[in-house]
Amino acid sequence: MPPKTFKAMVVRQTEDKGFVISLTDKSIDELPPGDVLIRVKYSSLNYKDALSASGNRGVTKNYPHTPGIDAAGVVEESISNDFRPGDEVIVTGYDLGMNTSGGFAQYIRVPADWVVKRPKNLSLREGMCYGTAGFTAALSVLKLIEHNITPEQGKILVTGATGGVGSIAISILSKAGFEVIAASGKKERKQYLLELGAEEVLDREEARDVSGKPLLKPRWAGVIDTVGGDILAAAIKSTKYGGVITCCGNVASPELHTTVFPFILRGVTLIGIDSANCPMPLRMRIWEKLADEWKLDHLDRLVTEISLDELDKYIEYILQGKQTGRVVVNLQEG
Ligand SMILES: NC(=O)c1ccc[n+]([C@@H]2O[C@H](COP(=O)([O-])OP(=O)(O)OC[C@H]3O[C@@H](n4cnc5c(N)ncnc54)[C@H](OP(=O)(O)O)[C@@H]3O)[C@@H](O)[C@H]2O)c1
Repeated sequence: MPPKTFKAMVVRQTEDKGFVISLTDKSIDELPPGDVLIRVKYSSLNYKDALSASGNRGVTKNYPHTPGIDAAGVVEESISNDFRPGDEVIVTGYDLGMNTSGGFAQYIRVPADWVVKRPKNLSLREGMCYGTAGFTAALSVLKLIEHNITPEQGKILVTGATGGVGSIAISILSKAGFEVIAASGKKERKQYLLELGAEEVLDREEARDVSGKPLLKPRWAGVIDTVGGDILAAAIKSTKYGGVITCCGNVASPELHTTVFPFILRGVTLIGIDSANCPMPLRMRIWEKLADEWKLDHLDRLVTEISLDELDKYIEYILQGKQTGRVVVNLQEG
């Protein structure tokens, strides 16, 4: 039997202080209807959670709200034949933490078709060390490989390198044998990026281009861009003939100013990445890769583990672009 109440982070809109975060006891009855009630053991912090926690209506329309687009835990109740009490499961994306009460709480209730059984070789905690950021990194790498980018073709640029998606993308690419060039705004994190497997670290400004030229010197066989804006535009102009660029984020800017020339003169391909509604067969394939072929030995090196009451501080860091690596939230206490 689940307890009557559980701990949850709640974001409220106030008249005088804007959006305010607090820790509250919530009751199971307050959760939305759904097939599977899950006792959350771990969650993780993603950039989208920080947007939800700070009142971004593009992510969350109604407040009070509990963010958290990731959750890993144990099924407590299920009306679905696919899941039984005691099953260890992972939920990432869909509407979790956006307009459905999310993983920054000890319980969630969700539709069964959002739920993935924990892969055999991945603990619940490891699942959240990856979380949506790691999943997105793996999806981006898979797209490069599926578009025939191989290590022999040359260097892969990863932008927003010290972030959650960037850190894991560098690690997976390096494990898969690619030569990775990291672009980062954090000079002091060069050693961290080299330890993850980057061969070289570029200053973020070197990866930007405001020259207005339609094409730049071809440098990259592939690009995993997590930031958008001028940096993505420069990456497209600097991609070699037949190269592939994936695009998943907008921390620099949602805008993209480019011409058609990289596409029609160099045959480059720009691929959009969406993890939230990734179809279930591909979703399961990605989790299996993270648990097996691409499982990282150094996961702990890129993870900070925190409790629910430390989240507000880390939300501030991630909004300011200061976070390095991944933040895992342990919900097992209290
Ligand atoms: N499409 C999807 O399914 C999907 C899934 C996950 C994430 N995302 C998006 O991908 C992006 C990255 O997510 P994340 O979880 O990795 O976030 P994160 O941990 O906050 O990392 C973002 C990184 O981008 C760099 N950065 C921050 N502000 C910047 C700016 N103004 N200009 C240029 N670079 C800046 C920083 O790295 P450096 O200091 O090293 O440069 C920062 O660590 C976000 O926009 C997120 O919403 C999309």
